[in-house]
Formats: sequence, C-alpha cells, structure tokens
Amino acid sequence: MKINGKDWKTIWITDDLEIKVIDQTVLPHEFKIKTMRNIKDVYFGIKNMIVRGAPLIGVTGGYGFALGIKEDSSDKNLIKCSNYLKSARPTAVNLSWAIDRIYNKVARIEKSERFSFAIKEAKAIELEDIEMCSKIGDNGLKVIKDIFKKKYFEKKNKIKNINILTHCNAGWLATVDWGTALAPIYKAHRENLNIHVWVDETRPRNQGASLTAYELQSEGIPYSVIVDNAGGYLMQNNLVDMVIVGSDRTTSNGDVCNKIGTYLKALAAYENNIPFFAALPVSTIDWSLENGVNTIPIEERSEEEIDFLRGLNNKGKMETIRITPIGSKSYNPAFDVTPSKFITGLITEKGICKANKESLKSLYG
Ligand code: MRU
Repeated sequence: MKINGKDWKTIWITDDLEIKVIDQTVLPHEFKIKTMRNIKDVYFGIKNMIVRGAPLIGVTGGYGFALGIKEDSSDKNLIKCSNYLKSARPTAVNLSWAIDRIYNKVARIEKSERFSFAIKEAKAIELEDIEMCSKIGDNGLKVIKDIFKKKYFEKKNKIKNINILTHCNAGWLATVDWGTALAPIYKAHRENLNIHVWVDETRPRNQGASLTAYELQSEGIPYSVIVDNAGGYLMQNNLVDMVIVGSDRTTSNGDVCNKIGTYLKALAAYENNIPFFAALPVSTIDWSLENGVNTIPIEERSEEEIDFLRGLNNKGKMETIRITPIGSKSYNPAFDVTPSKFITGLITEKGICKANKESLKSLYG
C-alpha cells in the first residue's frame, strides 16, 4: 500500500521486538504509529480497535501471544495468554486461529525455545497474510473482469465504468497489506479497469467513511461515500454492478459473518439480481460451525459508539459530539450473518467457490 507515495504495512516488528502499528482510531485525519510492547498493549489495541479487521487482528494477536510468553513460557502461562487475548474480540475467528496455530506449535517444544519460536511463527503469519491477500486480489480480479465483459456486451460497448459496492473496511488497513474485498479492486485499478466504488459509511464506527475512503483516495480510485441506507436505492436504479465484502468468520456451509449491515446489503443485492461476493482468506473459515445465524458469537460494543461521533469540526479541530438525547439507550451489535443462499461466491486465496460445504472443500484439492 502507498500512503503519500511511501510504502507501508499496517504492522511490523522492530529489532527490539516492539510491535508497530498504524493507529486506526485517528485516521483519516491523523497518521500515527503506535507501539505495543507487551501483551497488555496488544489486548488494549485489539479491544479498542487501534488495529481492526479480521486478518490484522489475527496477526497482531499472534505477536501479542509471543510477547506474553517472553518472561514465563510455562504451560500454564501459554493457556492464560491465549485465553486473555482471545477475549479481546470474540467474532473474528482469525484471532483464535492465529493464537492456536502458535500455541499448538510452541506447546510441543522446550520452554527455553518457546518465545523465539513464537515470534518467528507470528512473523510467518504476517508474511503469509500479504501473500494470501495478493492472491485473493488476483482471483477477485477475474470476477471483476467477467462482470465487466458482461456489462460491456449488454450495454453495446457503451460503458464508462463498473460500480462496486463495499461495506465497512476490508482493505489494506484490515490486513497487513492489499486487503480482502478491496484487493481485487486494487488489482483491477492497476490493470486500468475503470472502477467506481460505492463506500457504505458503516455506522457506528464509520470504517467505510473514514478508512475505506482514506485507502481509495490514497490509491487514486474513484469512490463515493454513501449512507448505509442508500445501497438498496442504488441497486434498484442499476447503479451497482457487484458487491464485495470481507468476512470475520465463514461457516462450513458458506454463511458469512461480517460488519453489521452486510446482511441487509445481501438481501437487497439478491432481490435486484446483483452478484454478491465475500472475499476472505481460508483462515476465516470456522469448520466447527455449519449454520452461522445464532451460533457465531456476535460482539456487542459500547453504547457510546452510537451516541457519539468524532471528527473534524469546521475549524479543523478534532471534536466529539453527542447525537442521542442524554440518558437515551442504545444497542450496538457489531456483526451480522449473511446466509449462504444470498452469496454468489466466495473469493479466497485458493480460488473462487460457491458458498456451500462441497465447493469450499473442493478448494483443498
Ligand atoms: O469491527 P471491524 O472494523 O474489525 O470489522 C471489520 C470487518 O467487518 C471487515 O469487513 C472484516 O474484518 C473483514 S476484513 C478483511
């Protein structure tokens, strides 16, 4: 990813074993790097969404686990650190996936070697994430090209661009680099396909308006931020050619759990015959669950996220304002589940498949 012409990743580890991350709570108005020095810093950073997005939470959690066992690599502390970090955010399965992957390997080796091994494994997860997201981009590019060709013939060569709607932020900020849902868009842009992105603002935390818009602007890709309720109208008026979203957890039968509001977009897309894709690394698949509705733990976040908005005031200063009456109640579930029947396909690093068990399994050869 390029920010102001410079290459960045969302997370890296220094020679002094400090974890550096881009602080996503202050974007797009400030660009700050935060340092995480121990497991508590990592827990705080994940819980308070300094880092967010399923794959990035996984990578950060992996590093956090390694830092947690630095002074005490006993079996007891491995379990303690694992449980502590997993409790930071419950929905994205990548967090427990990354921690379990490191845990299962270090639990089998000498205590004296556990810390350095855990750091190496966390680094491996970080590098693999970049590779996977790039492949998701290549695979998703094929889907975009097919939709482009279809539109080209249907409109008798008179098309200006392809309109893609996305929800929340599943771009490079949600991963180490490239992103999941946005990776195919970045690849398409590099091949000079004319893309325009409809960016759902994604209340209450506005990851679309603040983070996806920031990314697309940095990449020079045309986009328009829309309010969360505009998608249905745009779809009815032929202004959306496809939808691509990310996933925090995908069940074995292809249900996709993603940011709250994704389900409503899928319903509208289905009703209007618009292809609806989820892009995800296979680490997001939870093979232990079949149906996602009522089984995936849905994170409930604070009422303040709904009650307050934070942004620049008309003098260019950061300000927090309250929009609900003082004393009013809010309810803030952060994710919802889109049943597989509304999903046209899943775009993964292993290929594209249908949202069902058989097709998902076929990815593994
Ligand atoms: O609450 P967030 O900002 O962590 O939610 C992020 C999303 O819902 C993303 O769409 C999802 O993690 C997929 S990320 C590539």
